[in-house]
Amino acid sequence: MPRTIIVSNRLPTKILRTEDRLTFQPSEGGLATGLGSIYRQEGNVWVGWPGLFVEDAAEAEYVGEQLRQDSMVPVFLTEAEIRDFYEGFSNSTLWPTFHYFAQYATYEQAHWEAYVAVNEKFCRAVLELAGPEDTIWVHDYQLLLLPALLRQARPEATIGFFLHIPFPSYELIRVLPWRQQLLEGMLGADLLGFHTFGYMRHFLSAVSQLLGFSSQNGQIETGSRTVLVDAFPMGIDYERYVQAAASETAIQHEATYREALRAVRVILSIDRLDYSKGIAQRLRAFELLIQRYPEWREQVSLIMVVVPSRDQVAQYASLKEEIDELVGRINAQYRTIGWTPIHYFYRSFPLEELASLYRLAEVALVTPMRDGMNLVAKEFVASKADQRGVLILSERAGAARELSDALIINPTDTGQLAEAMHDALVMPEEEQVARMSAMQALVRQYNVFAWSKLFMGRLAYSKMKQHTLATE
Ligand code: G6P
Repeated sequence: MPRTIIVSNRLPTKILRTEDRLTFQPSEGGLATGLGSIYRQEGNVWVGWPGLFVEDAAEAEYVGEQLRQDSMVPVFLTEAEIRDFYEGFSNSTLWPTFHYFAQYATYEQAHWEAYVAVNEKFCRAVLELAGPEDTIWVHDYQLLLLPALLRQARPEATIGFFLHIPFPSYELIRVLPWRQQLLEGMLGADLLGFHTFGYMRHFLSAVSQLLGFSSQNGQIETGSRTVLVDAFPMGIDYERYVQAAASETAIQHEATYREALRAVRVILSIDRLDYSKGIAQRLRAFELLIQRYPEWREQVSLIMVVVPSRDQVAQYASLKEEIDELVGRINAQYRTIGWTPIHYFYRSFPLEELASLYRLAEVALVTPMRDGMNLVAKEFVASKADQRGVLILSERAGAARELSDALIINPTDTGQLAEAMHDALVMPEEEQVARMSAMQALVRQYNVFAWSKLFMGRLAYSKMKQHTLATE
């Protein structure tokens, strides 16, 4: 039976070396959590990096065996590849450029060469696995060259590509020395998916200005092939979050937190450590809230979870220091014996514990500077069984296109953000319920299963159309 081969840099399971043993745990980030629910369906396979540098062939074999039992096939990266491909080109060139932080981007030829080499490595791994009838679904910015590499080896293959981060304006893309190769790499796919129409428009504009290919109704004519482009806003596994929030563990944890916090109300913030997430700006806005509205002191705390990420990249390490310092300063300045303004956790939490925080919080702050989609916003919505609670959402997260019933703010406007927190804390219950139920209906319907079905349906359709044209 034909399968779908999912390919992404990060596998949904990551392996950590702790002292003398290996531990397997779920990966962080929207891609892994979002797709994690669908890859096990219908004998699908997921090809990717398990986040570990393997020491020898025996260890590689052991890891491979373990992962294969759960339908995953590992691609191992050497230490040099982790440095130059992962920390280098992927996360010091593409990530900052695509998130409008061009001032953080580096342009190193050696990083580019490693990027090409690792995309080729992924290509070999996929070719070894994929039969002619299988569909290959490539994900995200670490593998932009892979669609064209696969196409070269298998001209007839069915290849989809989805970008999980924003596709920026042409003005940012044109700065990249390797802009042409990157776009050509993506155009190897039959169907290219983006979270929003805005990202799709930016892509079409870059393709037209840099490669001279025009498009009509989301169809690009490259001369030799037609490539379809469309927007598919990604969803979450809604029921999984509903169940996690209703679980005994989540209820117990919530009760423990509630007891410790007494009557203090909770504003919640959960992110991977990343400058694109606007964490420092959010802390400043919380400080402004308690300055402008002293009545909230001792009444409201911010619970802030920052999940460690990419800490070998310089910008991430310095952001971590900035956050540590800000939290320390704000807490030292405003705390009282019975009240801590900010409860800061720098670690990852299992799903049920996250669910307990979603239950506990009256307000969620999802205020990135830029974010492809942001699934935390949708997870918070799904977790609110009683439909109480307010989502404050950045206008520059992809999710803002759908979740218009959130309080939508400009994350650089600290004053507006502080006011939104105040408004959220005083919002009447009927208004909370009206907004939350509208968002729940949407997040429930456009869940991750609907998303992948829509994408795969479009991909199959585009392939069928190509065959019809070829045989006419
Ligand atoms: C974002 C990216 C993913 C990435 C995730 C975690 O969601 O779109 O491709 O996997 O962050 O980042 P990491 O560098 O740990 O894979």
